[in-house]
Amino acid sequence: MGTHKIAFDLSILHLSESPKIRVIPPGPKSKKLINEQKRIESNAVSYPRSIPLAIDEAKGATIKDVDGNTYLDFFGGAGVLNVGQLNPKVISAVNEQLKKLVHALDFPTRTRIDLGKKLLEIAPGELESGKVFFSAPTGSDAVEAAIKLAMHNTGRKTILAFEGSYHGMTQGALSVSSGRKLYEDYLPLLPQTHFAPYAYCYRCSFGKEYPDCDLECLRYVEHLLADPHSGASIPAAIIVEPVQGEGGSIVPPREFIPGLREIADQYSIPLIFDEIQAGNARCGRMFSCELTDTCPDIVTIAKGFGGIGFPFGAIIYRKELDTWKPGAHIGTFRGHQVAMAAGLASIRFIEEYDIAQHSANMGKIMLGMLKEAEGNLKFVGESRGAGLMVGVEFVRDKESKEPYPEIAERVQHICYENGVIFELGGHFFNVIRCLAPLTVTEKMVRTGTEILIESIRKAEKEV
Ligand SMILES: Cc1ncc(COP(=O)(O)O)c(C=O)c1O
Repeated sequence: MGTHKIAFDLSILHLSESPKIRVIPPGPKSKKLINEQKRIESNAVSYPRSIPLAIDEAKGATIKDVDGNTYLDFFGGAGVLNVGQLNPKVISAVNEQLKKLVHALDFPTRTRIDLGKKLLEIAPGELESGKVFFSAPTGSDAVEAAIKLAMHNTGRKTILAFEGSYHGMTQGALSVSSGRKLYEDYLPLLPQTHFAPYAYCYRCSFGKEYPDCDLECLRYVEHLLADPHSGASIPAAIIVEPVQGEGGSIVPPREFIPGLREIADQYSIPLIFDEIQAGNARCGRMFSCELTDTCPDIVTIAKGFGGIGFPFGAIIYRKELDTWKPGAHIGTFRGHQVAMAAGLASIRFIEEYDIAQHSANMGKIMLGMLKEAEGNLKFVGESRGAGLMVGVEFVRDKESKEPYPEIAERVQHICYENGVIFELGGHFFNVIRCLAPLTVTEKMVRTGTEILIESIRKAEKEV
């Protein structure tokens, strides 16, 4: 794993380095709270349906439920808890901030300015001389802001997005998200979003194989823009996740993102990188676009950038785009000082302990174990990832690649019963996804991955 060494013992950041299951989950106390939640809350509640537990406390990459079971949390609050629950360095910054100021709209404060400067310092490529805009504190609103800014600058109204994308649930963000189940009850959304195939090589939309494909997916985007009869207008922006998250942890071949950059330049289209999930050191670099040294015109950030789970959202963009008017994207919570202090402390933590490199190393260990086991796992079509964004795609048959969501769901459940929590995602909901806090120790990674592999074997035997 190279010479990189974390400067302190990460194991102290967690409740334990392995799961401890005392009662088969969900235990009676979890069941009781889940039932109470059902009575009180909306039918739209989602996560406790697939992961039926009620949380008592959490630390680092571990969660304790109300029945006393301790889980390895490889879901990380949907990719939010990159420096782990209750990270002590972040907590101390939070406590200091709480003594002074919580809410400040967009008035300048020391915390806000320091965070703004830090975001520019870490921003990809030329964006270090760009501008920061703090949106309302969700990823969805950062995406809304990015779309608005691009529309304002180009005077165009349509967006080019990608199949497998997820950008959020507000109207604009949902319009550029491809999942039919999420939007079909709410049409019409923004007029004319055009979706092009992502470089999802395991299921190439053009039936080709990399590298012989000559990146047909890029050629198709060129065609959409070049052919006046393609049905797509020249868009206000191209929005893309440099590594796709909810679409199934898809890492495109290294020519894809730089190729999009070239095409966007050719047509003077602002390129938006949505780094809400793939950024913040998740994929082994602070921003996943740094994996291919490509710089966007606008980058969206949220999730882990709020530190230890504080809500936060922002965009960073090229200075030339800063043409919108004061109040162009207002919102009451665009100055949450505690979230800002937490975000700043967590970036400092990531830098101080080179958590991006640790994420790369831990991801390599996990993926290495999965790849080694893959050949003997009947229903695993592909395991893939970058850093600790790892996915295992399940198929009924390795030849036909027919998606097998039922087994993915079963594997998720067996893992949960054995004390490891994963997310499910992918085009067909057939991908087990790891979004573990990046502070996991090697022991935790090995234990969690062993449990995952064993759970896959167990699920296979049940079929
Ligand atoms: C890439 C990406 N963009 C945007 C969002 C939306 O963020 P939020 O749920 O904070 O609105 C998500 C959430 O999963 C995401 O993964």
